[in-house]
Amino acid sequence: MKIALASDHAGYELKAGIAEYLRSDNFPFEDFGCGPGETVDYVEYGAKGARAVVAGDCDRAILICGTGLGMAIVANKFKGLRATPCSVEYAAEVSRAHNDSNCLTLGGRTHTLDIAVRLVRIWLETPFEGGRHARRVQMIRDLENENFK
Ligand code: RB5
Repeated sequence: MKIALASDHAGYELKAGIAEYLRSDNFPFEDFGCGPGETVDYVEYGAKGARAVVAGDCDRAILICGTGLGMAIVANKFKGLRATPCSVEYAAEVSRAHNDSNCLTLGGRTHTLDIAVRLVRIWLETPFEGGRHARRVQMIRDLENENFK
């Protein structure tokens, strides 16, 4: 599994910490920016990470802005993306088990590196439960087909 990692300036430092964690764990990822010292629009960088998943170049994305909220809004504009902003461990677990989340969003201004790494680890390790949740995820796909071109 390969992760698309992207942030705006508000998420840059946390992204660097998460990149370091993924590297130390030999977890494959690609950093889509932004770079240090830049001031950018979260929409542009969220879209870069989301497009990598839609294109199949990456399997999932971790997107970081100030709060994780703008990145979630952006990512959920892409068909097939199920972006979940998570702040507590239970949400990270259930986002995978129930929602089959393929995009975790975090906030550089709302998450410490310690909690962010714990959320990332849970989100990476928790499998989708399927069963009744597969039916619900399919219902989400049906809504995408109805509302996205
Ligand atoms: C940038 O200042 C900030 O607005 C952005 O990172 C984010 O919090 C948007 O959701």
